[in-house]
Parts: sequence; structure tokens; C-alpha cells
Amino acid sequence: MTHPVLIDCDPGHDDALALLLAVGDPRLRVLGVTTVAGNQTLDKTTRNALRILGLAGVADLPVAAGCDRPLVGDLRVAGDIHGASGLDGPDLDGPVAEPADVHAVELMRRLIVGSAEPVTLVALGPLTNVALLLRQHPEVAPRVHRVVFMGGSTERGNTTPYGEFNIVTDPEAADVVLRSGLPTTMIGLNVTHQARATAEIIAEFRGLGTRLGAVCAELMTFFASSYLRVFGFPDPPVHDPIAVAAVIDASIVRTVAAPVAVELAGTHTRGATVVDLHGRTGGAADTDVAVGLDVDAFWRLLMAAVRRLGATPAARTSGPARSVGTVPPGTA
Ligand code: BDR
Ligand code: CA
Repeated sequence: MTHPVLIDCDPGHDDALALLLAVGDPRLRVLGVTTVAGNQTLDKTTRNALRILGLAGVADLPVAAGCDRPLVGDLRVAGDIHGASGLDGPDLDGPVAEPADVHAVELMRRLIVGSAEPVTLVALGPLTNVALLLRQHPEVAPRVHRVVFMGGSTERGNTTPYGEFNIVTDPEAADVVLRSGLPTTMIGLNVTHQARATAEIIAEFRGLGTRLGAVCAELMTFFASSYLRVFGFPDPPVHDPIAVAAVIDASIVRTVAAPVAVELAGTHTRGATVVDLHGRTGGAADTDVAVGLDVDAFWRLLMAAVRRLGATPAARTSGPARSVGTVPPGTA
């Protein structure tokens, strides 16, 4: 039994691992991948998604670019963490496929409408595309099983003292999603900071003996240098794959239902997720908030996916880009 998912992302080193986990685990059926501006500009995050999928030997998935800026205000990318390309570190080949000729929001709409089963949206970047989908096409909501997003925290932030990058980058979009009435799962820094790509993990990637394993090792080596320089962390936390892992195997994260609000106005706290863990506000406890993580089970899942993908025939890494996987017609 496979579970249909759409992955919305802004690769990004940890988004890259999340994509590999999503396409490499047999329990998920990835219907499509959409990109958003966040860690880098939209052209770069789209190119990076295509490069990672190509490297993984996946060339038949529709990939579409979405919003190039937040709903309100200007985009501020995370070049200090992910480098000028958004995926600095390894020497990656260019994409072997072109993005689809439709906007990400339209691709999501078509894939959701065309799916026989309700679809889980896995959001790994700012929630701009997802918010726009829900505002422009509210008719898809009953066909969305759940929105699982990496973002926010029950504790402090990483971009401002109280704000996590994905939420701070587009607080209004996060507010739309959290108040949409859809079931939501929040995978915040309070759990993602437990999953660190230690020297042992990096060695394990390299030890897989495949090009894909080596690229993962190089990505994490660059990521480690950023986290050491910016935060003083000895090992970098890998955020986004935990959201994918939670969909594959719900027992990997422990959640509690709580009201979550996004601070839209605070002088110093715009973009903070205000998580009412003790029910003091009387708000609806309608978000499943991750509060615990089985770190070893998570790494086993991710390593198995990278091993599995690395064992399949290598993706074509040169020559002209061909078109992406089938995009359903607009009349669906
Ligand atoms: C989130 O911000 C991005 O830099 C990462 O890709 C992740 O989605 C962590 O705060
Ligand atoms: Ca991300």
C-alpha cells in the first residue's frame, strides 16, 4: 500500500536528502515535485530539484516551479547556509529534465484532482505555493489528506531569535495553511535539531560506495561547515527529511495536538510559531506538533533509501535536457 504525496521544496541541502527519501522509499508514491523560492531564488531551487532527481535516476516525475517570492514583502534567501547555488559542495551535473510548462499551484491542483486517493502535501520550504493553492482552489481541500510541513518550533528560532526560516520567510502563507481547517503536522526545529549529520553519518553515506552516497556525503560536509560557522554546531541538523519520514512511518515522530498560531506583527517576533502546548489559550488543538523523534529509526530509513536509489542504474548525466514526466491535462 503506497501513499500518494506531493513534495513542495526549495533545495537546499536538507531538501535534497528529503527528495531522495521520498523517491527512494517504496511506501510513498510521489505524484510530483514543486519548487518555491526560499533557500535560494526560484530558478536555483528548481534547477536543484531537477539535478537531484536526475542524479537519483528519476526522470519521469512532473516538476513545476512556483512562487518566486513570499505573499508579502521581499525574498531573503539563505545563501549563508546553502551557498550561492543553494546546493554548494558537490560537483553536480546539470539537470537532465526541464520543468513543466505549468505553475506549481496548477500542477498541484491537477495532480490532487486526478488522484484516486486523498493526497498528503509535504512542504519543505516557505508555504507560499501551498497557501496559494488553498486560496485559489479551495475545492481541492477535501482531497488533501493532510499538510505535513517542516517549519517553526516549540522553542527558539534559527533565522530570528524566535523565528524559523520557512515560517519567517512567508509568515502570511503559514498563517493561511494553519487556519485552513486542513489537518496539519508541524515538524519544527525542536525535533529536527536532534537529527545531526555526524561524521559517522557522513562516513556511512560515503561507505555506500555509490555516486549518490558520495554526493550526500559532500552535501553534508558543506552543510556542516555552514552550521559550524553560523551557529557553532559541531554537526548540522537535517530538517526536511524528517517531515518525509513522518509520512512514511508515523511512529518515527511523537506528536501532540495543540493550537499553533503564527505571529504576523510582533516587533521582534514576526514569523514565530506560537505553540500552546498546555492549552492555555482555549484555541482549537488542530495541529499535530512533533515533540519527539526516533533518531536511529530516522537515519535507518534515510540510509536505506539512498542505498536503494544508488543501486538502480545511474541516471543519464549529460546531453540535452528532455521533458519532465506527464503533466495531467488542465481540464481534469
Ligand atoms: C528550514 O530552512 C531551510 O534552510 C531548510 O531547508 C529547512 O527547510 C530549516 O529552518
Ligand atoms: Ca527546505
